Amino acid sequence: MEKIVLLIFSAVLLFSDESAVSKCNECHANFLAPPYKKVYKHYLLKYSSKARVQKAMIDFLKAPSEEKSAMSKGLKKRFNPDEHLVFDTTTIDKAVRDIIEQEDIIKRFKKIP
Ligand code: HEC
Repeated sequence: MEKIVLLIFSAVLLFSDESAVSKCNECHANFLAPPYKKVYKHYLLKYSSKARVQKAMIDFLKAPSEEKSAMSKGLKKRFNPDEHLVFDTTTIDKAVRDIIEQEDIIKRFKKIP
């Protein structure tokens, strides 16, 4: 019985996507970093399509640098993109996918009656 409970528990942990973006919320949902809405806006303005935004965000997060940053000059000065935390590839992929889905501008338009 205990083994089954343990097995289910680890399966839930293993398959839950929540852990990826929760690692980012620590800063991005707590005023220690620009909110997702702002980050997404800058990426969308620079890269135009969802696929290109996704690629650019992943590229940045794998090896953060000021050069790759899509943020404004002011934001770059205030927060240093060179010092962004680096996460493992799985976390980066999942978190970026979640952020893009969450901030999807088309979905927002659909909510307007
Ligand atoms: C320790 C705090 C912290 C954590 C944790 C964190 N970030 Fe950030 N993030 C920042 C700060 C500060 C900036 C603004 C500076 C910058 O542009 O890098 C930023 C900027 C970004 C940018 C824009 C980068 C640019 O300059 O173009 C993206 C995309 C991003 N974060 C994604 C993530 C994702 C995804 C996670 C989780 C896997 C995450 N961040 C976790 C602090 C954090």
